[in-house]
Amino acid sequence: MLAVTPMNMTPDKLTIASPDDWHLHVRDGDALKAVIADSARQFRRAIIMPNLRPPVVSVQRALEYRQQIMDALDQLGLGHLGFDPLMTLYLTDNTSVQDIEAISQSDHVHAVKLYPAGATTNSDQGVTDLLGRCDKVLQAMQRLSVPLLVHGEVTDPSIDLFDREAVFIDRVMIPLRQRYPELRVVFEHVTTKDAVDYVRQAQGPIAATITPQHLLYNRNAIFTGGLRPHWYCLPVLKRETHRLALVDAATSDNPRFFLGTDSAPHARHLKEHGTGCAGCYSALHAMALYATAFDAVGRIDRLEAFASERGADFYGMPRNTTTLTLVRKPYTIEEQVPFGKAVLVPLAAGQTLPWQVQPQA
Ligand code: NCD
Ligand code: ZN
Ligand code: ZN
Repeated sequence: MLAVTPMNMTPDKLTIASPDDWHLHVRDGDALKAVIADSARQFRRAIIMPNLRPPVVSVQRALEYRQQIMDALDQLGLGHLGFDPLMTLYLTDNTSVQDIEAISQSDHVHAVKLYPAGATTNSDQGVTDLLGRCDKVLQAMQRLSVPLLVHGEVTDPSIDLFDREAVFIDRVMIPLRQRYPELRVVFEHVTTKDAVDYVRQAQGPIAATITPQHLLYNRNAIFTGGLRPHWYCLPVLKRETHRLALVDAATSDNPRFFLGTDSAPHARHLKEHGTGCAGCYSALHAMALYATAFDAVGRIDRLEAFASERGADFYGMPRNTTTLTLVRKPYTIEEQVPFGKAVLVPLAAGQTLPWQVQPQA
């Protein structure tokens, strides 16, 4: 007789194909040098967000930024890890069809990122009127199969902060995808049942990334025992019904949902501030966080598809052939880590997770 492992019994050790992070902020300068090793040790590739100051708006600038990342890895002695930064351009009202053509001919630039102007960190140069001003660029992206990565929140101040993703679907996402039905779209860092339901039922080439914080926490985390800025990111954490919908999507067999940490480092003093910055630092322990979320619902068996397969498939890239091993061994998250001249507080600092990444030999 075959020995059958019950679905709710999870192994104490899990080896998966190396994961990729399809939504990552690594900043530049000293900040880049402080955070890049954390991603390179767990992930083989990452989609690098372009919201620097000034934003990355040309292929030439994206290639320079990529070289800075490679140089930082070399200086840290981590060149051998083979980490591949997949670059993106920041969509502005001035992005041209030539920029899109340059992306389609580049081996290292893979997508264009939409930040509605004012929606999030460093989005002030973002697009003011996507459907009104970007028609030629969107047509070119559709024609040349360049994905549009979307921060999906409206910026209308009259819309409640917690409703901005749901309203974005009706006001922007649906009209956009009606007008450009073959445009490849990634609905980044989805946070609501509304977004999950939309992505599940939509026609055409669409996918969504999900962060560890939106799988593990609901909005109570921001207010437990006092105001907790290290749980504040955008889109903001939502109520429990939404978290459950996200867990259900991530751990399902639907190929449209895959890993994107949205790890977004901000110095401790800028988070613990009168107008604290939005963004959670999760690159340090991303895979331990995701393993914890999947194991909590007895679906660690789906982690590999979410972390290592579906994103590569959507982007039309080969799956990784190297591996990463996770072990069920308690890991207490560092209270803070160095960040250039400042320090950085990781997501859920001080808490203990049941899983950790097995250090490479
Ligand atoms: C990100 C950042 O800090 O760059 N912040 C965040 O809260 N997620 C920007 C973003 O992804 O919206
Ligand atoms: Zn965003
Ligand atoms: Zn982000």
